[in-house]
Amino acid sequence: MRILLTGGTGFVGGAVAAELAQRGLLDQTVFMVRATDAEEGCARLRETLLRFGASEVQARSVTPDRVLCADLLDIAAIADSPLLAGLTQVIHCAALATFSNNPRIWASNVDGTLALARAVLAQSRLTRWVQVGTAMCCGPGMAAPVGESWEAGTDEKAHLVPYTRSKVAAELALRALPGLPLVVARPSIVVGHSRLGCAPSPSIFWVFRMAFALERFTCAPEERIDIIPADWCAQALVTLALKPQLASDLYHVSAGMGSSNRFTEIDAAYAAAAGTPPVAPRYQQVGVDGLRGLVPLFEQRLGRVNRLLILRALTLYGAFAELNYVFDNGRLIAEGIAPAPPLAGYIGECVRTSEGVPMTQQMAHDFK
Ligand SMILES: NC(=O)c1ccc[n+]([C@@H]2O[C@H](COP(=O)([O-])OP(=O)(O)OC[C@H]3O[C@@H](n4cnc5c(N)ncnc54)[C@H](OP(=O)(O)O)[C@@H]3O)[C@@H](O)[C@H]2O)c1
Repeated sequence: MRILLTGGTGFVGGAVAAELAQRGLLDQTVFMVRATDAEEGCARLRETLLRFGASEVQARSVTPDRVLCADLLDIAAIADSPLLAGLTQVIHCAALATFSNNPRIWASNVDGTLALARAVLAQSRLTRWVQVGTAMCCGPGMAAPVGESWEAGTDEKAHLVPYTRSKVAAELALRALPGLPLVVARPSIVVGHSRLGCAPSPSIFWVFRMAFALERFTCAPEERIDIIPADWCAQALVTLALKPQLASDLYHVSAGMGSSNRFTEIDAAYAAAAGTPPVAPRYQQVGVDGLRGLVPLFEQRLGRVNRLLILRALTLYGAFAELNYVFDNGRLIAEGIAPAPPLAGYIGECVRTSEGVPMTQQMAHDFK
């Protein structure tokens, strides 16, 4: 077995690297990393592994000879690399994962992904390519629980942001590639780590902090929110990569109805951890259009902030939260993967590891 992991310095990919460490598979893994040389790439990977709770010994088992320095924007530069030979599984986490309008989204997520798959196929006989997509690629207007579907998100005009459109396009392009043993895994919303809270990454947690501070957001109080921790997401992705037989080629990696919490449950758990009263009695649901009316509250409740930036951030994330989606995970559970730990059970660690960290600093992680 020889695994290629891309995006191993990121949130989801870092958790996957730590899961590979747990399973004793790091020395059978090649890592594709952006870096000027393999030593720098190796150092970045080791630092990420430590952040995700791996031991020093595990981190040191990543060595420069298995680090492929590469950028999705220039796969031609590494297409002949011997590190792409003899691979059996690929877990492709690397992507420009941003709700911003970064002009490199398509070139990275679609063109770069396709070029990488072609380069790998030219040198390796794969048993599986796990393409990490996003459940939110289905676009608005779906009835919850949302089921897996190859048609979801194919209406290009239905996307809230270019990122989700690029993720669907990448999946479809890979699906059309002859000889690629493709399995698409679409995580829902990844927040925190079930044991380490926000220490590995604060991604998206700042949205909750702002919603509770403002006592207003676009979620309906009684609706469920589909959130999963990075470590559980990684366990599921590695299992999908390694399991000899799978029943499907498309999976939600999600909390589903069984592990998703209502907003009020998350509020109660957050309040207990923060030592503050729940906001439920004062909470007001506002539509995305109504977020602009909250601007006067920003400085009052969030401190000195760039109001326009906060408004833009809340509008982008609020549009997704307003969908109130729960993603069916029946296929994943049927593969023998244990249900995700609910956010209300581990949000205390997220609160604790966010103490003293400004919300705007956490937010910067998601705006590249
Ligand atoms: N986080 C979520 O809630 C969530 C939900 C659903 C799906 N996903 C999916 O999970 C995957 C990872 O997302 P994430 O949240 O972990 O994002 P992230 O923390 O931003 O990590 C992205 C990773 O991709 C790498 N990368 C970005 N552009 C690259 C390029 N041009 N060439 C090579 N590597 C590049 C980054 O490398 P650097 O370290 O060099 O920047 C980093 O390792 C994505 O496919 C995303 O669609 C995430």
